[in-house]
Amino acid sequence: MKRVALITTGGDAPGINAAIRAAVRTGIDLGWKMHGIRHGYAGLVADSFVPLGLRDVGGIIECGGTILGSKRYPEFKSEEAQLQALRILRERNIDALIVIGGDGSQAGALAFSERGFPVMGIASTIDNDLYGSDISIGADTAVNTALEAVDRIRVTASSHERAFLIEVMGRNCGYLALVAGVAGGAEAIVLPEVETDPETVASELRAAYERGKPHAIVVVAEGAKYNAEALSAYFKEHRERLGFELRVTTLGHVQRGGTPGAFDRLLATRFGAAAVGHLARGEQGLLVGLIKGEIAATPLTEIVGRRKKLDCHLFELAGVLAQ
Ligand code: ADP
Ligand code: F6P
Ligand code: MG
Repeated sequence: MKRVALITTGGDAPGINAAIRAAVRTGIDLGWKMHGIRHGYAGLVADSFVPLGLRDVGGIIECGGTILGSKRYPEFKSEEAQLQALRILRERNIDALIVIGGDGSQAGALAFSERGFPVMGIASTIDNDLYGSDISIGADTAVNTALEAVDRIRVTASSHERAFLIEVMGRNCGYLALVAGVAGGAEAIVLPEVETDPETVASELRAAYERGKPHAIVVVAEGAKYNAEALSAYFKEHRERLGFELRVTTLGHVQRGGTPGAFDRLLATRFGAAAVGHLARGEQGLLVGLIKGEIAATPLTEIVGRRKKLDCHLFELAGVLAQ
């Protein structure tokens, strides 16, 4: 019988609980004992384990967040913390670890694998910046949350003839901004991946005003060189040129919470079951993701340190569609 532990280590993402549920139930179905580690790598180093039975993962598929808890724990980059974690896993007779998280989490997972401890990664981050998965758990729900906010803001923007800067999350990746911007019909999108400056954005807003638009929505990625704060500081100096009055909304952690949509529940369920399937076949050191619509596993050595490319064609299209 195998003893497998699950850990959620990065930013929480809607759908993580569906992955935990699927991994626990498919593992138990194989006769394995399943365990959860509380509060990410910090909890692992502190030896914080909970057994996970069939009933422990009931009623969680529809819940956002992670039932195991998560914590930013930069100390885990140190060899000392990693060796301590390894000692604890061995003391507890754990045979394999499933790491649910983004690029940082998978860097931690690789550290285990390189020391000969079996791990499987599951792609989970609203940022959708993880190489090895076209889409990760939580990104779709986060986009829909941002999109709802964009739609609501556009209504009030139109009533008042205002421009809005709406800042969305994504760390250094513009995926959330690009997709929410295109789907929300934004007049301009500002991304870390595409160089732009406040003057260009100001001209786009002015042009929208002169074309008779009743509003202008700019979706700004938090990781862009000119984020919402920097842009609004610049626009304050040039208010009369914009045509519109300006307001700023930062969506922040609103995008991380909420009920996972059907897409994320299904994706996470397939990821959780696939991770267990790989371990059952004696495979390890892989990240489970979605590639061209299929569940696929990629070696962690190919994932860590790489950045997924953003579809900049969509960005060019957004410019045309904003006319
Ligand atoms: P995400 O996994 O969503 O990208 P983080 O970047 O915060 O989120 O990473 C999650 C956790 O993984 C960090 O808090 C830290 O404990 C661990 N981690 C991040 N980078 C590394 C690394 N290079 N080596 C080992 N562990 C790491
Ligand atoms: O990685 C997910 C994410 O929500 C990023 O989009 C954001 O930059 C960051 O986490 C926020 O981190 P924290 O939750 O630690 O404030
Ligand atoms: Mg990350």
